Amino acid sequence: MDFSFLSNYYKFFIVGVKNTILLSILAVFLGTILGTILALMKISKNKPLKLVSSAYIEFVRGTPLLVQLYIIYFALPFDFTEITAGAIALSLNSAAYVAEIIRSGIEAIESGQMEAARSLGMSHTMSMRYIIIPQAVKNIIPVLGNEFVTIIKESSIVSVIGATELMYNVDTIRGNTYNAIGPLAVGAILYFVLTFTLSKIVGRIERRMKASDRS
Ligand code: ARG
Repeated sequence: MDFSFLSNYYKFFIVGVKNTILLSILAVFLGTILGTILALMKISKNKPLKLVSSAYIEFVRGTPLLVQLYIIYFALPFDFTEITAGAIALSLNSAAYVAEIIRSGIEAIESGQMEAARSLGMSHTMSMRYIIIPQAVKNIIPVLGNEFVTIIKESSIVSVIGATELMYNVDTIRGNTYNAIGPLAVGAILYFVLTFTLSKIVGRIERRMKASDRS
């Protein structure tokens, strides 16, 4: 394997990793905000809100991210830059998955918890705020961490429209040097370092939250 491309092209990897991280953080951040709203709409008693949220979640999860990306970049009447279109597509996509993570996290709390809170005289809102949500957050945080890992990997798809994240830069080096295996190996290792590190952090957070349950 020839790694001589590194001396000329190492900066492409640095910029690529930086943009992949920024893109993923932005996508998970915006995805979590929108996903929370969608989850609350879906568990509300308001029929139209439920319907809109369910339709959005089903549509996004039932169509490929690549198609969503193309719609946003090529079909909508806006002149988004490649990175912006990529960030929007990843955020809108992640929101649907996050919505289900949050909804199931809340619904996983036994109904006895709500009943006990209500029987102590708390209002529905108070019970949610002080009893249900704090427990749900413990279920939700680690799964959100996994969503982050997924998004780091899925973000490579935005290279197809020319957003200069890690995969795009790997491809540029491959094209310039006629060396495929070298740049792809380095790219794969960098993705792995990112996701493996993040998984370890998520695992640690998960164990901490379990530990605080027992104390
Ligand atoms: N690659 C798949 C798709 O195109 C999965 C997307 C997963 N997205 C997520 N936010 N977890 O549909």
